[in-house]
Amino acid sequence: MSLLKDLEWRYATKKMNGEKIPQEKLDYILEAARLAPSSSGLQQYKVIVISDKALLERVRLVAYDQSQITDCSHLLVFAAWDGYSDERISRVFNYMMDERGLPHETMDSYKQVILDLYERSGQEWQAHHAAKQSYISFAMAIAAAAEQKVDATPIEGFLPEKLDELLNLKGTGYKSTVILPLGYRESEQDWLVNMKKVRTPKELFITEMTLADSSDNVDLPKPMNLDDFAQKSE
Ligand SMILES: Cc1cc2nc3c(=O)[nH]c(=O)nc-3n(C[C@H](O)[C@H](O)[C@H](O)COP(=O)(O)O)c2cc1C
Repeated sequence: MSLLKDLEWRYATKKMNGEKIPQEKLDYILEAARLAPSSSGLQQYKVIVISDKALLERVRLVAYDQSQITDCSHLLVFAAWDGYSDERISRVFNYMMDERGLPHETMDSYKQVILDLYERSGQEWQAHHAAKQSYISFAMAIAAAAEQKVDATPIEGFLPEKLDELLNLKGTGYKSTVILPLGYRESEQDWLVNMKKVRTPKELFITEMTLADSSDNVDLPKPMNLDDFAQKSE
């Protein structure tokens, strides 16, 4: 129940007061972001932490002048891979195998399957796929912040190309996806603080389905595993 209470408490803070959050709380939020699951465990994103006021002033200029950027304690910038490659995937899998005391080749056939799949899908799809993974980490950070009673504003309202230039991300293989100022609410000046939290009613949000509700008019493939799938699509 406590997670639900924390999620009720949080809101997309519009006005922050500039107060610093303790280092342990920042570390906790970043650790929740790091522990997020990701497709194939690749963690195809990273988090950049900014507390330098002079840099935050510049970030605000590429984020539609949103005041949370400069009134926060720390700004988290989520940045995801701009594409997949054998080298990138091998680096992660080799590290994973080293940590687990297994030979590097353990993941070879699986790696080939996903590489084939990714290659066929093109670089735009790849960047989008990686960006989606970063949002899972972002959501974990939002929930962890709420648990720590730290305010956070999820922000997509910025110019990603400009932010990438500003943060010297161009040429690094990463693109910014979403940003998260962390800090404390300035309740007196925040129009949203006392507004009711509004969500789609449960009965519209949740649909239970049985076989009777599904379509019997789908040409379903025979059961196959990922290796079969790779061979079929060659
Ligand atoms: C991906 C994403 C992007 C958002 N971008 C902005 C933004 O640029 N500026 C802002 O003030 N709020 C932004 N929001 C906040 C949403 O408007 C807010 O979460 C939503 O209205 C629900 O309200 P609540 O978070 O207060 O419960 C964003 C939220 C998400 C999840």
